[in-house]
Amino acid sequence: MAKYHKPMSSPTLDHLLTRRSVSANSLTGPGPSEGELQQILTAAARVPDHKKLVPWRFVLFQGASRDAFGAVLAEVCQAEEPDAGTFRLETEAKRFLRAPLVITVISRITQPSVVPEWEQMLSAGAACQNLIVTASALGFGAQWITEWYAYSEGVRAALKLADNERVAGFVYIGTSKEKPEERDRPKLSDIVTSWQR
Ligand SMILES: Cc1cc2nc3c(=O)[nH]c(=O)nc-3n(C[C@H](O)[C@H](O)[C@H](O)COP(=O)(O)O)c2cc1C
Repeated sequence: MAKYHKPMSSPTLDHLLTRRSVSANSLTGPGPSEGELQQILTAAARVPDHKKLVPWRFVLFQGASRDAFGAVLAEVCQAEEPDAGTFRLETEAKRFLRAPLVITVISRITQPSVVPEWEQMLSAGAACQNLIVTASALGFGAQWITEWYAYSEGVRAALKLADNERVAGFVYIGTSKEKPEERDRPKLSDIVTSWQR
């Protein structure tokens, strides 16, 4: 019988076996073209999604909106951490300028649903992963970040999140200034077992 799936091409497999995130601090322009951005988002919207609930959505930051959102981050930081000094506030103001494109992945939970909340959250995590895998397959550097502002009430309000929504990640995408060093990975023998009764 013919195989339904084509065998994975070796560039795809190589990519999965060697992929590295690139620190947001090591990113610069240019970012993806409009066509590449559509590919990246289309791949993210193709993750496993039990019962087709679409438990995620994406908010894009490009161009001037990165600067405007930085101003929000600095304001919220000052309100939530009154001791924050000038250096910290300047860092916050420039956060989204680290990359030409930041994609915020928002997990959104449908309730009631036969699909447990946990599964819906996992699907949002898979969307984050498809974003970085696709962006890096296109030759860009990418990093999935949460930092403090994924968990801030003030930032939640600025992102206009509904009660059933939360940030799964901010995916920074741009051109890598340097090749990331290899990172230690767990030994498979430490994490893989075969079940036995
Ligand atoms: C949910 C989630 C949140 C993360 N948040 C941060 C973060 O805030 N800051 C950071 O430096 N790395 C964060 N990381 C780790 C990076 O995405 C990345 O895994 C790390 O830089 C190692 O690179 P690698 O993907 O090549 O292993 C996070 C990862 C996950 C899965």
